[in-house]
Amino acid sequence: MRKISIAIDGPAAAGKSTVAKIIAEKLNYIYIDTGAMYRALTYKAIMNNIDFNSERELISLLKETKIELLPSDEGQLIYLDGKDVTTEIRTSEVTNSVSTVSMHKLVREEMVRRQQSFGLDGGVVMDGRDIGTHVLPQAEVKVFLLASVEERAARRHVENVNKGFSSDLEQLKQEIANRDKLDSEREIAPLKKADDAVEMDTTSLSIHQVVDKIMSLVDERIN
Ligand code: CDP
Ligand code: CDP
Repeated sequence: MRKISIAIDGPAAAGKSTVAKIIAEKLNYIYIDTGAMYRALTYKAIMNNIDFNSERELISLLKETKIELLPSDEGQLIYLDGKDVTTEIRTSEVTNSVSTVSMHKLVREEMVRRQQSFGLDGGVVMDGRDIGTHVLPQAEVKVFLLASVEERAARRHVENVNKGFSSDLEQLKQEIANRDKLDSEREIAPLKKADDAVEMDTTSLSIHQVVDKIMSLVDERIN
């Protein structure tokens, strides 16, 4: 069967990685979480006391940084310079700084180069903010997932509570709204629906329903 590329973009906590993972499994494609790559760099910048506003320092840090996305039975693991940082990159400290780190042109160019090298042969599901517009502009299926900020904060809240993490719904809503604003208003490759992407409002849809909708777009393109 023909292997295609699938781009899934959208704001924070819209369900991108959850549905991207399921679709990749169904199709036996590779799944690339590009947000995890920006998070890994942000984590390393925090550890090394790097100024998030210094493009020069961030790009030299990135050039000497190895970021790997490795499949495992518990899902995708993120390795930074050979060390598993899957949990560390999800802290609120990283979450609240990642949009500043990912604003810089040189950082984005290097990340996009690495992301495109993963997707060279098709058979890839990639999620992020600029996949349909910049990383895989030729992707056969492009989806832009949306949900109200209340719904997205509530989803993250449930996720935190289930993991036993402390969580404040109002604070989550504020953090998500701030990050969306920074991601949408940055100059380089902002969060934006590609002209040829299919917009899906998932506010009242289950994960299953979203996966089914995307799978019908995939079936249309493959057959
Ligand atoms: O999963 P969540 O929505 O919290 O975010 P993420 O996908 O892990 O992405 C974290 C951050 O990385 C985003 O808020 C963006 O600032 C940045 N990012 C980006 O600029 N471009 C991408 N393709 C993916 C993420
Ligand atoms: O990757 P992104 O930040 O866009 O979102 P996610 O981490 O995939 O999803 C955030 C949370 O919303 C997860 O706990 C999902 O299980 C949940 N979710 C949901 O409840 N309903 C959906 N239609 C999609 C995701």
